[in-house]
Amino acid sequence: MTETEHVIVRDLRKTYGTFDAVAGVSFEIHRGETFALLGPNGAGKSTTIEILEGYRDRTSGSVSVLGTDPQTAGRDWRARLGMVLQSSGESGNVTVREQVAHFARIYPDPRDVDETIAAVGLSEKAGTRIKALSGGQRRRVDVALGVIGRPELLFLDEPTTGFDPEARREFWELIRSLKREGTTILLTTHYLDEAAQLSDRAGVIAGGRLIDIGRIDEIGGQEARTPVVRWRDSEGAHEERTAQPAALVARLYSTLGDSLDQLEVVRPSLEDIYLGLVAEFERRPAAEKELA
Ligand SMILES: Nc1ncnc2c1ncn2[C@@H]1O[C@H](COP(=O)(O)OP(=O)(O)OP(=O)(O)O)[C@@H](O)[C@H]1O
Ligand SMILES: [Mg+2]
Repeated sequence: MTETEHVIVRDLRKTYGTFDAVAGVSFEIHRGETFALLGPNGAGKSTTIEILEGYRDRTSGSVSVLGTDPQTAGRDWRARLGMVLQSSGESGNVTVREQVAHFARIYPDPRDVDETIAAVGLSEKAGTRIKALSGGQRRRVDVALGVIGRPELLFLDEPTTGFDPEARREFWELIRSLKREGTTILLTTHYLDEAAQLSDRAGVIAGGRLIDIGRIDEIGGQEARTPVVRWRDSEGAHEERTAQPAALVARLYSTLGDSLDQLEVVRPSLEDIYLGLVAEFERRPAAEKELA
C-alpha cells in the first residue's frame, strides 16, 4: 500500500455521557514518521489511540488508518498494525518464547522469534513463564508482541512504563531500527526525553483538545525555545534569556573577565516547553478552552 498519510483524524470526538474525553481533535501521521502524542493523565491519548486501533467506537468525526476506517476494518487491516496497549500486562502460564511464537503465527510475514526476544532484552528469560517475570520484563514482552508482525504502523501507548534506564535505551535502539525499516509509529509517553529522542513531530493534547502540534524541534514556538544564560559574578547570580547567547557570553567575558563564574547556556528541554504549553492551557478561561 502506498498511502502517504497513514493516519488521518478529522474533528474526532468521544463522549461518555456528558463528558468529552476527546473534544474535536485533528491531525495526520505521514508514512514512515514517528509521531508523539503528549499530554497529562486523562488528556484523551489512550482514547484516541484505541479509536485508531479499532478497539473503541468514536462519537463523531472521521478517521482513516492505512486508508481504512477502523470501525469497519477486517483481519487483513489488523495484520498490518502493531499495538502495545497501555494496560495489556501479559500474565500467561506460557513461556516468553511460546507466547511470541504464538503471535508470530498470526501474521503473514513475522520477524524471527528469537531475534525479537533478543531485541527487547529477554533472551535469558525466553524459557521463563510470563507470570514469573517482573513488571518491566512483562512490559518488554508486550513490546515484542507489538513488533513481531513487522507492522507498517505501530501504536505504542506508554511502552516504556516500568523499564529501567538501560531497558529504555535498548528500546530506543529497537525503535530506531524500526524507523530505518520505514515503520510509521504513534507513540505516547510521559518521558519527554524519550519523545524528543524518537519523534519527528508531536501533538500536545489536554482536556481532550489538541493544544499544539509541530515538528519536535519547533513545537511551542520560538519564544518558548529562547535559551537562558546563567552566570555568577561578584554581585551574585544572574540569568538572562536571549536568542543570541554567544554574543551575551562574549560580552560577559570581556566585561567581567576572571570574576565571571559558573557560566552556562541552557536551552529549554522538550519537558520545559511541554510544561509551559499545558500550564498556559490550564490558565485559560473555560470558554476559551472550548475554542482550542
Ligand atoms: N469507559 C470510560 N467511561 C468514562 N470515562 C472514560 C472511559 N474511558 C476513559 N474515560 C475518561 O476519558 C478521559 C481520557 O482518558 P484516557 O485514558 O484517554 O487518558 P490518557 O490521556 O490516556 O491518560 P494517561 O496519561 O493517564 O494514560 C479520562 O478523563 C477518563 O477518565
Ligand atoms: Mg493513557
